[in-house]
Amino acid sequence: MSFDPKALLVTGGAGFIGANFVHHWERAWPEARIIVLDSLTYAGNPQSLAGSRAELVVGDIRDQALVEMLLREHEIDTLVHFAAESHVDRSIHGPAAFVDTNILGTMSLLAAARAVWLAGSGTAHRFHHVSTDEVFGTLGPNDPPFRETTPYAPNSPYAASKAGSDHLVRAWHHTYGLEVTTSNCSNNYGPYQFPEKLIPLFLINALHGRALPIYGDGQQVRDWLHVEDHCRGIEAVLRRGRTGETYCIGGGVELPNLRVIDTLCAAVDTAFAGDPGLAARFPEAPAAQGRPSDSLKTFVADRPGHDRRYAIDCSRARAELGYAPVHDFTTGFADTLAWYLAQEQWWRAIMDGSYRAWVEANYARRG
Ligand code: NAD
Ligand code: DAU
Repeated sequence: MSFDPKALLVTGGAGFIGANFVHHWERAWPEARIIVLDSLTYAGNPQSLAGSRAELVVGDIRDQALVEMLLREHEIDTLVHFAAESHVDRSIHGPAAFVDTNILGTMSLLAAARAVWLAGSGTAHRFHHVSTDEVFGTLGPNDPPFRETTPYAPNSPYAASKAGSDHLVRAWHHTYGLEVTTSNCSNNYGPYQFPEKLIPLFLINALHGRALPIYGDGQQVRDWLHVEDHCRGIEAVLRRGRTGETYCIGGGVELPNLRVIDTLCAAVDTAFAGDPGLAARFPEAPAAQGRPSDSLKTFVADRPGHDRRYAIDCSRARAELGYAPVHDFTTGFADTLAWYLAQEQWWRAIMDGSYRAWVEANYARRG
């Protein structure tokens, strides 16, 4: 039986994946109504929603009264939950925010959904929780990839907080009957990713002649998923997924970090060689000075608790939902580089801090 979302509340919709999801959904389902709930932390950016018809409500997922009001007022039938603290390095230095947002925030959303959707005889609804493959821990070189039945073994405070939220979502289904689905996906890349994550950070550093800090030996393996494939995967879960189930979504592209970094450096060099205007825009780049970008590679101390390898087996999503990634890394990465080169004002405002002042001046918080 398929589910047909008509009015969506998207938490964290001003973040990287949430904003891509809003744009994706509006292209696929132009008649749908979308409300974005986002507290605009350092990672939330209303500019990422430019061109979208979604209404942005600036508020916190931990504000249960606000969430209940939004669910009722906008007759929401589908909640897609992206909002989170998402960066592993930050979780190592400040784990409390991760517990607050990822665990308590998810519990507050579940409580609001239960209060509104399960009241009286109940209304048709879906609560979709966006989670990560990091909840499964780390793989050895010859281990089979993660699947839905892999035991949880989180290693970072971030992963532990996401694991906690996954368990709460499951419990609200089994205990209260909330109609939930969860997806656990691998490393996303693509437009609008905050420049603290590997790919956008290294791209922007390469353009400015700054070091590319490689943790440990750089041989950690990630399964790279283009964000558009992730959005298609979530759409498939929402429409055809079985409630109470979890689905693993991956890109099918396992690469060691050094391979990703070498691809990135070579692509930047090629872009500069093909467009003399780039040297004028980014004179500090090695590529503007006749040196290769990979001269910036710098090995630094490893991340504590650094997981060695992630890989996803998406056979359940493939068999049950018809999900398959369509982006290969070569073209997906080339498109991403082209996006960052074309959207300099988006990341420049983040890097120079002007965007934060603009948010404070223009967005009032609800609740
Ligand atoms: P992001 O950090 O880019 O965005 C998070 C968004 O959540 C921001 O807009 C932020 O303002 C908002 N937010 C944070 N705390 C909030 C709160 N208390 N109330 C309301 N809004 C709040 O994150 P992302 O990379 O887009 O990740 C989205 C989701 O996907 C997260 O749940 C993350 O765990 C999961 N995920 C991400 C990846 C990845 O590769 N980026 C992979 C697997 C899973
Ligand atoms: O696997 C899914 C996860 O992917 C998501 O749940 C997280 O929200 C998301 O941030 C991402 O986590 P990672 O820790 O894998 O992503 P990050 O971009 O921080 O790092 C990717 C790899 O690159 C990882 O092995 C660490 C390494 N790295 C990262 C940075 C920022 C470096 O070597 N140097 C760096 O400066």
